[in-house]
Amino acid sequence: MDPVRIGILGLGTVGGGTVSLLRRNAESLQRRLGRPLKVSRVAVNDPNKPRSVELEGIDVTTDAEAVCTDPEVDIVVELVGGVDNAEPLVRKALNSGKPVVTANKALLAERGNELFRYAGEQGVDLAFEAAVAGGIPIIKALREGLAGNRIQSVHAIANGTANYILSRMRTEAMAFDDALTEAQELGYAELDPTFDVDGIDAAHKLALIAAVAFGAPINYEALTIEGIRPITAEDIAFADEMGYRIKLLAITKHGPDGGIELRVQPALVRTDTMLASVEGVFNAVQVIGDAVGPTLYYGPGAGADPTASAVVGDLVDVARTLGAPPQYRVPYLGFHAEGMQEPRWAPIEEVETEYYLRLQAQDQPGVLAQVTRILAEEGISIEAMRQKEPRPEASDVPVVLLTHTTRERAMRRALDAIDRLDVINGPSQMIRLEEVEE
Ligand code: NDP
Ligand code: HSE
Repeated sequence: MDPVRIGILGLGTVGGGTVSLLRRNAESLQRRLGRPLKVSRVAVNDPNKPRSVELEGIDVTTDAEAVCTDPEVDIVVELVGGVDNAEPLVRKALNSGKPVVTANKALLAERGNELFRYAGEQGVDLAFEAAVAGGIPIIKALREGLAGNRIQSVHAIANGTANYILSRMRTEAMAFDDALTEAQELGYAELDPTFDVDGIDAAHKLALIAAVAFGAPINYEALTIEGIRPITAEDIAFADEMGYRIKLLAITKHGPDGGIELRVQPALVRTDTMLASVEGVFNAVQVIGDAVGPTLYYGPGAGADPTASAVVGDLVDVARTLGAPPQYRVPYLGFHAEGMQEPRWAPIEEVETEYYLRLQAQDQPGVLAQVTRILAEEGISIEAMRQKEPRPEASDVPVVLLTHTTRERAMRRALDAIDRLDVINGPSQMIRLEEVEE
């Protein structure tokens, strides 16, 4: 049987992992597909860089465009990353009639609508399982396995680096920067690690998740994004004492006023939930469908082998339908083009949750009375309040509050007023508390 010839752009963490996995599992892949999958060409930036992966029999070039147009390549795998540099390569491959497999969530979150339209015009596939949650086949689950459902909500720990940092800060009392350095050394972090810690990478993934969950065009602009930089070791410890873990959550769900929420934010989740127990580089995606109820998908969210697992899964899918008419393939986002609908994306002010607040208050009489008066004026009811030990040399003390369910609009107004009090050294910390149904 003739092999399916693969051209890979990029031989970094994921590219190297993909070449090595295709070699290691060549026999079982051939048994699944009925044909061998053969890497024929690879493009890199620096041909002199030492590579740990075996490249015998593979043509290595610095001309990525040549791989995209090579008639001897059947499928192109884009693993160079970035948006402006990757887009022309993907277009070139699609334009040459070649299906593309990519792990590039930034590219698809920002330019996916145009690229899927273009792939459709060319009549070829554009597969992206590896772009979301590393080794977890969540795109396949949402597009195919859960197709019978109307999706109610998705709560995801979708960035391995951020989860790794939060886990290490809690269990090893590690400083933020040291934990980030470790994650970079392990190959988890993006080229620009601010994407990981500022929630941007999780937001790219959430934009794709929401599109396949709700049959909506990708809308990265509709997202509210907050990262983990403002989370202190103190917040992690206070949350722990109260029975919560802090996780960076990517959330999309029907909001109280009927709009669809789309937000990436650090959140308190109860310690006895499955999401709270997801530690290190692991990701988890909790999906509630109207028929199935709550489901949870768990696995490694980054790294060479896990991400290669998703890339190779896509390669097998795409190779199976090579040359087949488009109606024999699953639509890119799981919904027929005519079935796609732009929902009303809910603004953040419509969100309703409980809140964790940490205020830095002057230790003097009457301070808490002023704070509770402001909260009461906004109709915010307090569930718990604790004054903590002052930090050494500090003129203020941390006061931690948990509220009952509140509208974000009211909470923001209240916090503005609290931070204007002379007796509060703002800005105060506000973290949402997410009740995830299990
Ligand atoms: P790396 O930085 O490790 O690798 C990038 C590779 O692309 C390098 O081999 C580099 O070459 C090559 N490259 C860059 N520009 C060009 C170009 N113009 N022509 C040819 N080769 C080029 O990135 P990752 O492997 O970590 O990530 C790749 C993609 O996968 C990204 O989109 C990322 O978001 C995504 N991803 C990454 C995950 C991970 O765990 N790392 C997990 C899931 C998705 P050279 O080696 O010569 O410098
Ligand atoms: N930098 C990403 C993460 C890689 O840490 O999750 C996987 O997409």
